[in-house]
Amino acid sequence: MSEAKLGGRFTFPKTSLTVQRMGYGAMQLAGPGVWGPPKDPGAAVAVLREAVAAGVNHIDTSDYYGPHVTNQLIRKALYPYPAGLVIVSKLGARRPPDRSWERAISPEDLAAGVHDNLRNLGLDALDIVNYRVMGSGHGPEEGAIGEQISVLADLRGKGLIRHIGLSNVTAAQVAEARAITDVVCVQNNYNLAHRNDDALIANLARQGIAYVPFFPLGGFTPLESRTLSAVAVRLGATPMQVALAWLLQRSPNILLIPGTSSVAHLRENLAAAQVTLSPEHLAELEGIASP
Ligand SMILES: NC(=O)c1ccc[n+]([C@@H]2O[C@H](COP(=O)([O-])OP(=O)(O)OC[C@H]3O[C@@H](n4cnc5c(N)ncnc54)[C@H](OP(=O)(O)O)[C@@H]3O)[C@@H](O)[C@H]2O)c1
Repeated sequence: MSEAKLGGRFTFPKTSLTVQRMGYGAMQLAGPGVWGPPKDPGAAVAVLREAVAAGVNHIDTSDYYGPHVTNQLIRKALYPYPAGLVIVSKLGARRPPDRSWERAISPEDLAAGVHDNLRNLGLDALDIVNYRVMGSGHGPEEGAIGEQISVLADLRGKGLIRHIGLSNVTAAQVAEARAITDVVCVQNNYNLAHRNDDALIANLARQGIAYVPFFPLGGFTPLESRTLSAVAVRLGATPMQVALAWLLQRSPNILLIPGTSSVAHLRENLAAAQVTLSPEHLAELEGIASP
């Protein structure tokens, strides 16, 4: 697949890391509830290999997916990693045996999280690590994050992390982190129907910082909308492709990491980069956002 077919390229600010705008999110590869191994580990490996074979060079993961399972699958499928593959991980949580998501934000927790990622991915250093704030579920919550960002900056000083990003954050938290260190990306919940970050995206675009929506397709309950389906029919595309094409057209600093456990869905999602939405389509899709 040619590079243009994956949405063009984006270079993370002040880095030598350039990725295709169409990437892949690996969370769906673990078992149900992002816990334990998937039913068919071979299928998960096939999805990862297909993504990279198609030209994807940006994979989002975390060691607490599984836990450990997703990173172990990435290593199994792709190690030794092809040149130019950027694996982005995240820290800030752990999964206790009751399968909940617990904060893991002390300096010791963060350092242990980096070492878990390095061991399970088989790397000496992580390209980008997002500090994932455990706010209120899948939405951010105000609160100081400077202490954790300083710990990540120290881990970067030790050569274990190359660049720092943020996840599930408010504009104030982005500003707080940027006063401490360079931030290369922000990963928040955003899609056609959930647009709390419109202003933040514009602000980050001005700084050249990547905005990487999680739940680009709606997450655990994929987007369903009569308008979306109607536009898709007119374009000869699928609703999921229109949702992804909308994000690509929304702002040049948006990078996509749609998640799937299926090779067929992966192919469909990557092909969304070839869908062009007219001003009329865009105006119609505006109506989907919740007020
Ligand atoms: N920072 C954070 O807090 C955070 C939170 C959540 C996720 N993430 C990251 O963001 C990535 C994307 O989010 P996500 O995977 O949760 O949600 P998503 O990409 O919005 O949607 C994934 C869901 O959509 C389905 N799907 C994918 N492609 C489809 C298609 N073409 N047609 C129909 N259904 C399709 C998947 O099922 P199938 O498997 O059946 O395709 C899955 O149920 C994750 O993989 C993870 O890396 C980060």
